[in-house]
Amino acid sequence: MPRLDPDRAGPGYDAAMPSTLDLSPDELLTTTRAVRKRLDFDRPVPLALAQECVQIALQAPSGSNARGWHFMLVGDEAKRRQIGDLYRQAFEGYRSMPVSAHALAEKASGDDVGVMQQVVGSAEALAENLHRASFLVIPCIEGRLPAIPGPMGQLAHASQFGSILPAFWSFMLAARARGLGTAWTTLHLLHEEEIAGILGIPFSEVMQTALSPLAFTLGTDFKPAKNRSLDGTLHVDAW
Ligand SMILES: Cc1cc2nc3c(=O)[nH]c(=O)nc-3n(C[C@H](O)[C@H](O)[C@H](O)COP(=O)(O)O)c2cc1C
Repeated sequence: MPRLDPDRAGPGYDAAMPSTLDLSPDELLTTTRAVRKRLDFDRPVPLALAQECVQIALQAPSGSNARGWHFMLVGDEAKRRQIGDLYRQAFEGYRSMPVSAHALAEKASGDDVGVMQQVVGSAEALAENLHRASFLVIPCIEGRLPAIPGPMGQLAHASQFGSILPAFWSFMLAARARGLGTAWTTLHLLHEEEIAGILGIPFSEVMQTALSPLAFTLGTDFKPAKNRSLDGTLHVDAW
């Protein structure tokens, strides 16, 4: 396994740790989970390590190969606090939304009750602590969604999001391979314009699409999710 050059890696780099974990492709794909309670807030992530993950993300596909993607890494503590406060405000409203994990937990049955209660507890913990991660990562794409009705609108929306979200998932996989935890979130988008102002993102030209904490994980052993059945999900030849 290649190792990071300690001089390049910056503070917090552990020279004893290989730069990637020993995971098979399938293990990487099935154990990259939403990490919220097992983020190490006391061990700084070197900028060089975060940069490696962005470099890998840039191998993802994009519509027409336009590559209008941008990754915002927010390490500045004051900015992380401001964004964390706005995320928490959004989370307050989210709790009572019909699509919230809280609402789904109420409706859950069987094995899903425990699973959904865990998601609620973990989402609450992240809302409380988001600002404490070494970096907040915001994947952005050039252009705002055009208000086009019908199939052209559908094409535009699918192409716009499809040109950044695969790259963000690659970023998360690359992070997991390096012992770093991430959690896909979108609630900050309720305050997108304000956050664009904090970070100097040109709001009218660039759209934020998600936000994740980036921190070392507490331990590196993660399990595949349960309850992922093909029944009702896979359709062959007809719905
Ligand atoms: C589009 C999208 C939006 C999400 N938004 C949030 C969010 O705002 N806050 C949060 O805590 N988790 C959010 N999640 C994370 C999901 O809750 C998480 O993927 C799910 O619970 C499965 O967790 P697991 O990957 O650990 O199994 C989001 C995930 C996706 C894909």
